[in-house]
Amino acid sequence: MKKKKCSSPLLLLPLLLLFFFSLFPSPTLSAASDGDRVAMVDIAEKLTNLPSSWTTDSDPCQWAGVNCRSGRIATINLALKGVAGTLSSSISKLSSLTNLQLQQNQISGPLPSLAKLSELEIITLDGNAFSSIPNDFFSGLSALQSVSLDDNPLAPWVIPADLADSINLVRFSASNTSINGEIPEFFGTLGSLQSLRISYNNMTGGLPDLFRGSSIQNLWLNNQQSPTKFSGSIDVIGSMTQLSLVWLQSNSFTGPIPDLSKLSSLASFNVRDNSLTGLVPPSLTSCPTLKNVSLSNNQLQGPYPKFAARVDADIDKGNNFCNSAPGSCNAKVTMLLAVAEGFEYPLNLANSWMGNDPCGGNWFGVNCDNQNNIIVLNFANQHFEGIISPDIANFTSLTKLILSNNNLSGPIPDSLKGLPNLQLLDVTNNNLSGIVPDFPNHVTLKLKGNHLLGSSSGSGGGSSSSSSPSDGPSESPSAGDQPTGSKSSGALIAGILVAVLILIACFLAFFYSLYRKKHAQRFGRVPTGSPPNEPESIKTGVMGTEMGVLNSQSGTGSANTYMVDPQGMHMSIRSLRRATNNFNEENILGRGGFGVVYKGELNGTLIAVKRSRVDLTGTKGNDEFKAEIDVLSKVRHRHLVALLGYYDDGNERLLVYEYMPGGTLEQHLFDYNKIRCSPLTWKQRLTIALDMARGVEYLHSLAQESFIHRDLKPSNILLDNDMRAKVSDFGLVKHCIDKQKSMMTRLAGTFGYLAPEYASTGRVTTKVDVYAFGVILMELITGQKVLDDRRPDDDSSLVPIFHRNILNKDEFLKSCPDPNLELDEKACRSLMEVAELARYCTAREPSHRPDMSYAVNKLAPLVVTWKPTAGNEGRGDVSSLF
Ligand SMILES: *[C@@H]1O[C@H](CO)[C@@H](O)[C@H](O)[C@H]1NC(C)=O
Ligand SMILES: *[C@@H]1O[C@H](CO)[C@@H](O)[C@H](O)[C@H]1NC(C)=O
Ligand SMILES: *[C@@H]1O[C@H](CO)[C@@H](O)[C@H](O)[C@H]1NC(C)=O
Ligand SMILES: *[C@@H]1O[C@H](CO)[C@@H](O)[C@H](O)[C@H]1NC(C)=O
Ligand SMILES: *[C@@H]1O[C@H](CO)[C@@H](O)[C@H](O)[C@H]1NC(C)=O
Ligand SMILES: *[C@@H]1O[C@H](CO)[C@@H](O)[C@H](O)[C@H]1NC(C)=O
Repeated sequence: MKKKKCSSPLLLLPLLLLFFFSLFPSPTLSAASDGDRVAMVDIAEKLTNLPSSWTTDSDPCQWAGVNCRSGRIATINLALKGVAGTLSSSISKLSSLTNLQLQQNQISGPLPSLAKLSELEIITLDGNAFSSIPNDFFSGLSALQSVSLDDNPLAPWVIPADLADSINLVRFSASNTSINGEIPEFFGTLGSLQSLRISYNNMTGGLPDLFRGSSIQNLWLNNQQSPTKFSGSIDVIGSMTQLSLVWLQSNSFTGPIPDLSKLSSLASFNVRDNSLTGLVPPSLTSCPTLKNVSLSNNQLQGPYPKFAARVDADIDKGNNFCNSAPGSCNAKVTMLLAVAEGFEYPLNLANSWMGNDPCGGNWFGVNCDNQNNIIVLNFANQHFEGIISPDIANFTSLTKLILSNNNLSGPIPDSLKGLPNLQLLDVTNNNLSGIVPDFPNHVTLKLKGNHLLGSSSGSGGGSSSSSSPSDGPSESPSAGDQPTGSKSSGALIAGILVAVLILIACFLAFFYSLYRKKHAQRFGRVPTGSPPNEPESIKTGVMGTEMGVLNSQSGTGSANTYMVDPQGMHMSIRSLRRATNNFNEENILGRGGFGVVYKGELNGTLIAVKRSRVDLTGTKGNDEFKAEIDVLSKVRHRHLVALLGYYDDGNERLLVYEYMPGGTLEQHLFDYNKIRCSPLTWKQRLTIALDMARGVEYLHSLAQESFIHRDLKPSNILLDNDMRAKVSDFGLVKHCIDKQKSMMTRLAGTFGYLAPEYASTGRVTTKVDVYAFGVILMELITGQKVLDDRRPDDDSSLVPIFHRNILNKDEFLKSCPDPNLELDEKACRSLMEVAELARYCTAREPSHRPDMSYAVNKLAPLVVTWKPTAGNEGRGDVSSLF
């Protein structure tokens, strides 16, 4: 073994050789370069049982299985040659190596690092006896396409994060190599990855969420040897549309098989030996591309599945189908399975509900009378998640429904109030929300411990703060037990409140009508309690504050309370002129393509008045303007800037919003000097990101209908004095349901924030907002504008730079975050998570981007860990009801 290969006498010869070859360059036939030759000799010396041509005094380019390109070693292929010995670390000097194929030999000892072999495309080392793999094995392998390490007795290792940089990776195969840890999320975002094979390892955890929309075609995760194996739901499989082979057998997966109808090439589906429950979905039994399927040894329920004859099916062993040949289940079984579906098919129900007769056996939670009618369903204390199925209403003999001490969410289905024999509904200590249906008096309701029940849903995290009048000394702040008596007294109180409200409203309206010397229109809004000598405030009062309080007190207020009749929001031009000092230049807050925004004061309330440019008005714009008001009056959320009123006479169109004293996010990020503020802290940026995410999530999915903002950018994110954010400017909001009605015809959006597919095709989905949100996250992290002329031309947009830089986390943390941020270790971790989220949200393919709710769920825990002791969220904050 030569350690000093650079000792001086040896140096002369290579130099001479180098001189010689540089005189006669001969690309393909040239002998190995000096450095490569030395490395190859070292490699050859440490291997044994080599092919005879591997003699250390000959040119390595002539050795069997070795190919050179321009005097550099390009490929080494010794597959199936019976080679033994060890693999020298000199391999890392072959910097032009593209293929390393040593599979099915007896090579032992540690694997050397291949770090920085940036040309390396193929690594095939399976079926050897390598004993360990270094941490940096994959680092800097930017050309890597295929890895095969299967069947090597490696010391326990985890898949290194460096592999995420190998963005051309097509195949990763490392079964039976003692991998520990969880499946790295980046396998879901490597856009070229087709095959992932990590069977027979020692791995744990679940399928990463980021697999949603991945390009993987062949997925082998079977037979993990760790005590817990892979576990959790296989739901994400339903959105991995490219899958052809799915092998999940011999793990601990639970829950139902998802809808597989989006998998257009599924051929082999093996989930045997898990703990799956629920019905076999029709999308699997009728899958036209399916060749073989294995479902044995799970707890699958419902009718015995029927596959086409061409499918090689292994299904009958160890499941809990209601019958042993295809056919439908007993109606009661079908109804009970619908209940179990609501609970996400819990394992203990699947284990206990055997056969086709719920009253004959000992079915957990089910009690029948002697006519075989199901009269009691008792699922107390089961840690069930999911929802209460509306189909429970089909059990017409049911007298008691007991669901206490679980983790159920969603509403109490309205259908349950029609159960004719129901005496008791006990949902104590769950996480239910929505409005309690109007049950008949003979039903005893036990509702305690459901903090969100009775208040309007969709508040994005707020909970009502005042307690129900009928609540005794209860730890629960909202809906308490409401047995018959106190329920009607609650209704009485609510009734009185409504009556008082109407009286106050009439009183104010009376004064208002006197003031206007004109008969008042039907008022659609609830007054704010301002003194009657301030009539204008009828129209402009801060929407919802008082209503929020009333609603939380009555406990069962209708969600419709929040619907505002747009007619009731019409304001007088005179009051708005006065409020803005006759649209004084000094009151201008900002200008844009739409027109000008003025600050104003209306009876002590600060407002912002948006005045549309005249050429945007006119008869044609009228419908759009009306539509916008219609949208705005429907979306109310504490992270969306509220519309307070409007004015429209055909020539002049004004929108009146609540005033946000903190200015725009754009000012705070990029012009903080100009507005004499200090740069935002990381905590403030996190909170702003979450506020923004919640507002947009609401727009997308929580409002009664779905809306797309289409113009998210920092200048549309407004801040209050506490640096809490609201999303504003709904001028381009697109209503998703009503496709006939085109809300806005002008070109929408702002360059830099436009999602690629939107910019090129004009196709607009909610993912357009997710993209813009991701761009804003990048700006929050870096303090840089997405488009900046000072950057060189190729790098004019922040997005590709960010995507490139984030590949190397250490470098990223050193160079990318806004220098104004003071980041300790914890902040760095949280910043990296937000950076990953930003990358995910700005994926090129809209289908690869997450939903806004994903962003909310990612950000919320980060903000919580940052919460100062005196946080004000959800405490005494009535606006949190929105
Ligand atoms: C795992 O690899 C070892 C060799 O390292 C081999 O003997 C064994 O059969 C392999 N196990 C499986 C399940 O393939
Ligand atoms: C799997 O990992 C656990 C700890 O992580 C270890 O105790 C066990 O020996 C490993 N099993 C195998 C087969 O490598
Ligand atoms: C499915 O079929 C393929 C080839 O047709 C075969 O290699 C594989 O073992 C089969 N898988 C199962 C789970 O039967
Ligand atoms: C419950 O009843 C409704 C209306 O009759 C029916 O559509 C639904 O399929 C039933 N559900 C079950 C699970 O039987
Ligand atoms: C209820 O569900 C939530 C979210 O799924 C979970 O974080 C929480 O731990 C669960 N609580 C209980 C008591 O099971
Ligand atoms: C309760 O449900 C809400 C959604 O309705 C969810 O955000 C929250 O995490 C749940 N809480 C618990 C403790 O499960």
